[in-house]
Amino acid sequence: MCGIVAYVGPKEAAPLILEGLRRLEYRGYDSAGIAVRSDAGGGTLAVVRCEGKLARLEEAVRRAPPSGTRGVGHTRWATHGRPSERNAHPPQVGRVAVVHNGIIENHLEVRRRLEGQGRTFASETDTEIAAHLLDEALAAGASLVEAMRRAVRQIEGSYALAAVDARTGDRLVVAKNASPLILGIGDGEMFAASDIPAILPYTNRVIPLEEGELAELTRDGVRIEDAAGRPVSRAVRRIDWSPLQAEKGGFKHFMLKEIHEQPRAVEDTLRGRIVADRTGVFLEGAELDDETARSLHRVVLVACGTSFHAAMSGQRWLEGLAGVPAVAELASEFRGREPIVGEHDLVVAVSQSGETIDTLAAAKLARERGARILAVANVLDSAIPRAAHGSLYTHAGPEIGVASTKCFVAQLAALALLALRLGSARGRLDAGGLAELTAALLRIPGRMREAIARNSGVETLGRALASAPNWLYLGRGRSYPIALEGALKLKEISYIHAEGYAAGEMKHGPIALIDRNVPVVAVVPHDEQFEKMMGNVHEVHAREARVVAVTDREDPELRTLSEEVLTVGETLPAFSPFLTVLPLQLLAYHIADFKGTDVDQPRNLAKTVTVE
Ligand code: M6R
Repeated sequence: MCGIVAYVGPKEAAPLILEGLRRLEYRGYDSAGIAVRSDAGGGTLAVVRCEGKLARLEEAVRRAPPSGTRGVGHTRWATHGRPSERNAHPPQVGRVAVVHNGIIENHLEVRRRLEGQGRTFASETDTEIAAHLLDEALAAGASLVEAMRRAVRQIEGSYALAAVDARTGDRLVVAKNASPLILGIGDGEMFAASDIPAILPYTNRVIPLEEGELAELTRDGVRIEDAAGRPVSRAVRRIDWSPLQAEKGGFKHFMLKEIHEQPRAVEDTLRGRIVADRTGVFLEGAELDDETARSLHRVVLVACGTSFHAAMSGQRWLEGLAGVPAVAELASEFRGREPIVGEHDLVVAVSQSGETIDTLAAAKLARERGARILAVANVLDSAIPRAAHGSLYTHAGPEIGVASTKCFVAQLAALALLALRLGSARGRLDAGGLAELTAALLRIPGRMREAIARNSGVETLGRALASAPNWLYLGRGRSYPIALEGALKLKEISYIHAEGYAAGEMKHGPIALIDRNVPVVAVVPHDEQFEKMMGNVHEVHAREARVVAVTDREDPELRTLSEEVLTVGETLPAFSPFLTVLPLQLLAYHIADFKGTDVDQPRNLAKTVTVE
């Protein structure tokens, strides 16, 4: 949560920082601010802060542009202190201003000490103590880097910090612990940011900072040191995302663009991982050789939100295709108890951002207990892959819409590959079986394109149903995670109450909710659960629910029982989730757009949840 950007170079800093913040606004949009150092008068800071979205800051900067070639910026998701200009970053104390992403857990204690020394605080934020600690050290004669060293020694919690000092003309200092921070290496200019899209227009050469590290950025380079102050040398990574991937490309919202990018996200995630004759799956970097694959007793998948729904699909494939015991767990629950995991368990941590705090903590806990950790993540070298033994990256490109779509299907692709890999290594799948499944998987992107095109008219249905305040989504087996995902999409972007339910549980409670005002979205592909699902559809139809059926092919009986039937086309039953999820995403999108909500940045949400 929160996005930070820092720039030092030969150009005007303010427009570059604002552009970076625009690309990070998905991380938080309660307030925004910028601090730019100008050379005037031996060094001064211009700080501009606004409550609300970045557009307000842009307008304020346009009216009075701060001039200078180094500075820091911030877009906020409020934790300590309500959204307001007063609580916006960067706080400035004396000659220094600082931006922060994370939570400083001991801020009250430090604040009391500083207040005891006569310091006064202007905000309710935890971050302001960092500004005071920097000012305290600078006032005592420390350099900016030494001031940051002293400050972070007194801070407990998570932080990505970037500081600019009025009197230190040539450099910025940043520090990181448990919140993401990427350095961008330009040509005669340096950047730091919470996420890659912020720096992509300027450079694709990055260094992700590690826990406890601190870096000095000048026009000509970076100097990194570890928590003990020892210099660290770090290889520069090249990112193959293009800046265009982070633009809307003619779509009204990022979410709609990302829905349409899903076939490509799956294609890219499968690319190079299935051998030409389709009888082998290679997962480079996953560190799962045949012996390891055979020695596993169980796979535990941990994740949050949409990634958890992908993990639930993964569980079904691991059981059904690989014949390995598997369980999907909410990361927050897994880490909150005493889970029994050990050396024969593979713990798969599924996370788009690779930074979600609960998923990261669950992976670390499992690792401490001896389990092998595999990260399924979209962001290279993010915290979860770094905490894992191996990584299986999804190649969805940057996902900007807060509601996850293309990363979800890319996670499905990665987990399906994992199931096929384990299934073949463990002898559950023979060459013929594997070839049939891999061939079907390779056809999925094409089927997805057709399904998206076929369901573009779902907009009309969305308008017809947009006023219904309560929705029920039902599915069984492999369609149950899809029902959960459909309901989550609807609630997070349209603010409509929606419940996803295992259809077999309907008679155990939720059926009491059904009446003619409740749309029931039933995910009913023609698989082994079809007859049972049809029973559920009959039951809700009998109670006058407005049935929206999502199925693979036309079915006269389903047509009679439903207000609308959304067909997605056929694939092997095992892989129907890749298709059935598509109309549910489109339906949620069109309802939200019709209602006029902020589709890409829904209220109260943030793209990356790095606080508990
Ligand atoms: O980055 P992660 O995949 O770990 O994020 C997990 C959830 O926060 C995320 O999926 C969230 O539920 C999305 N807003 C769903 O659209």
